[in-house]
Amino acid sequence: MKKIQVAIDGPASAGKSTVAKIVAKKLHFIYCDTGAMYRSVTFAALKNHVKLDDDQALKELLKTIQIRFVPAEPEQRVFVNDEEVTQAIRTPEITNNVSLVSAQPSVRAELTKRQQEIAEAGGIVMDGRDIGTTVLPNAEVKIFLVASVHERAVRRFKENQIKGIDTPLDVLEKEIEERDYKDSHREISPLIQAKDAVLVDTTSLTIDQVVDKILEIIDQKTN
Ligand code: DC
Repeated sequence: MKKIQVAIDGPASAGKSTVAKIVAKKLHFIYCDTGAMYRSVTFAALKNHVKLDDDQALKELLKTIQIRFVPAEPEQRVFVNDEEVTQAIRTPEITNNVSLVSAQPSVRAELTKRQQEIAEAGGIVMDGRDIGTTVLPNAEVKIFLVASVHERAVRRFKENQIKGIDTPLDVLEKEIEERDYKDSHREISPLIQAKDAVLVDTTSLTIDQVVDKILEIIDQKTN
């Protein structure tokens, strides 16, 4: 398999990270979760009492933090400097604040640069919101993954139950709608489908079906 770049974008809870991880494993590619990077910056900002919309302060904060992914099973571990944040970046507090941090120009510029460095050698599946449009505009394969708001809320509800979080379904639907709006309407690198991305609607598909579809698209584009 050629060491290509695969960009997977789409709104929150469309299944990007779940399928991106499996696709990367099947192809023996690296998997990079860019949402985890924005979440890690949000975590560090909250911890260091940096205002979440203070672009200059966030720029300074970023100079002091290294974000690392360490391969592990069942999921890769995330570190901010020497502190493991794998679980800590998935709390509702981070989820509800990350849109503000990810809208700041300096944060986007710095994380885009780091993501481009990670992807430089190819052999990578990267998921996020702006991978096909901004981070890797020349990626050989671009997928835009979507699902209905209701389906995404149901998925998040089930994930939350496992973690012991019991936010009602209608609240989750509202949060997802709000995050969609913020992600798609921010000034820099808003969530939009790249012209050359293939749209995959996962609403009524199983994880295996989505993975197979993406592998098929990769096969078509590379052969
Ligand atoms: O995929 P996720 O839910 O973990 O992403 C967390 C947030 O980070 C999401 O609200 C939007 C932002 N994000 C972004 O702006 N650009 C990316 N490439 C990835 C995530």
